[in-house]
Amino acid sequence: MPEISEPHARELAKQNLRKNKLRVELINDLDGIDRILFEAGCGHGHWLTDYAESHSNTICVGIDLISWRVRKCNDKKFKRGLNNLYFYKAELSEFLEVLPKTVRFERTVLLFPDPWPKARHHRRRMIQADLLDEFARRSDIGGELCFRSDDRPYFDWTLEHINKNNHWLIEPSASWPYESATYFQDLMDEYFSVVARRV
Ligand SMILES: C[S@@+](CC[C@H](N)C(=O)[O-])C[C@H]1O[C@@H](n2cnc3c(N)ncnc32)[C@H](O)[C@@H]1O
Repeated sequence: MPEISEPHARELAKQNLRKNKLRVELINDLDGIDRILFEAGCGHGHWLTDYAESHSNTICVGIDLISWRVRKCNDKKFKRGLNNLYFYKAELSEFLEVLPKTVRFERTVLLFPDPWPKARHHRRRMIQADLLDEFARRSDIGGELCFRSDDRPYFDWTLEHINKNNHWLIEPSASWPYESATYFQDLMDEYFSVVARRV
């Protein structure tokens, strides 16, 4: 077996601790829940909090990498007393790794994800072939994937990736599920939206 360096081993140990803590949190919070609306990179939580408030029968789950943003999300949730809404500080691939397999996505939403405009950074974009496959595995036939961006090249990249994927079909006539401006949406003059259906 190849040796791993000490810093790498420390990093792996930290990652395992983080994932185990998140796994326990998710098992406790989502016990008995089999359908959620999932938002990846929910930022300050404006959209998801409004969505949860107006869809009280839907369990809404949002994640973001940045702690203070997740704190703002939770402030909104508690101020409005919403018990169908959960926010986690988590990285997307780690979250998907530890989320119980019984939890299915009826709608997956990505709003203004970081566009990573330089070609050498495109691999950091959230939308990738593998991620679309994983979202598909988590969704039943008819489930929705909703993507919105102000960045035209990233939007086109997303259309291309969805069109290449056998599990998602773009629905040009589908309406956007719910309008409420996010923090980033408010900063943009124009943006582009696409809704795809799990087939
Ligand atoms: C440009 S902001 C958009 C935030 C929000 N959706 C909005 O429209 O206001 C992108 C967000 O995605 C989060 N993010 C980026 N990569 C992520 C990842 N791998 N896992 C979880 N969150 C991530 C960032 O921390 C940031 O808050």
